[in-house]
Amino acid sequence: MTPLRLCKVLYSEFAAKTEQERIPETDLVMTDAEAVEAFASAGNGTGIMSPFYQFALEQIAQALPLAGTVVDLGCGNGALLLPLAELYPMLRFVGVDLSENMLAMAEKERVRRQLKNVSFLKENFTQLSSIADRSIDFVYCSMALHHLPTIANLNETYREVGRVLTPQGGFFFVDFGRLRSDRAIRLFVNDAAKGTPTVLLRDYDASMRAAFSLNEWRKALQSLSGRNPKLMTTFGAPFIVGALCSHLTSQKLVPQALKASRSRLSLRYFFDYLALRFLFKLCR
Ligand SMILES: C[S@@+](CC[C@H](N)C(=O)[O-])C[C@H]1O[C@@H](n2cnc3c(N)ncnc32)[C@H](O)[C@@H]1O
Repeated sequence: MTPLRLCKVLYSEFAAKTEQERIPETDLVMTDAEAVEAFASAGNGTGIMSPFYQFALEQIAQALPLAGTVVDLGCGNGALLLPLAELYPMLRFVGVDLSENMLAMAEKERVRRQLKNVSFLKENFTQLSSIADRSIDFVYCSMALHHLPTIANLNETYREVGRVLTPQGGFFFVDFGRLRSDRAIRLFVNDAAKGTPTVLLRDYDASMRAAFSLNEWRKALQSLSGRNPKLMTTFGAPFIVGALCSHLTSQKLVPQALKASRSRLSLRYFFDYLALRFLFKLCR
């Protein structure tokens, strides 16, 4: 996004008097083959999701434990799960998703990369019935919570996360936050328009409207308050919202291989990555 457009977003958000209503996604699970394909291509080095993935991978990498089991809720095609599993062979990774199409793509890529430390579960992440209490060392979830139909489902998910985590377990959730103004959403969608397939732009717009607001995140996180989650958001406009609880003995560093992939981002997306890195801060 150009600095001028970013200023317009910030102005629209500061000027907005009321919060927009949430409009839940029509697709709870991503099953439509065209949408799944478009989403997967958005994550490659030149796609619209690439700056976000670079940012999210770095955040998660620093918070991962040194050993144990990590669960990715709504893992999709494995855009985060598979690179992380490759970087951390000493950790066991479990990807949870309800979409067969997504899981099939992820499994194909797991085989291609010859990863032995990854498995998948076709399960609803609001009820992780096949995962035992206190058996998981780290849980993360990227861009999946906004698919939940209701706030009650968001609460259920956080309760499940609290149940499956070990007492010292950590987590990282990151997703769109609901912007206060319709104009700001349109500015983001227009910014992405060039070179982005229509199906993806529609999904982008719908995802931002289905996102939970910062206040909704804050309230829902109370079920995990015993773990002292840190709420974060992009400065001035809750475009991206996250919650982090880091393991005492976490990795703490971004591995060199991950730093190197910053240079593969196009100039436009490198700016977006930097903006995310510097604007995503603790929320008071
Ligand atoms: C937008 S994709 C994000 C995928 C991946 N986390 C990423 O960042 O690339 C959201 C994924 O969450 C899955 N999903 C949504 N709601 C779910 C639920 N309640 N249980 C399991 N998976 C769910 C969808 O099927 C989809 O694959």
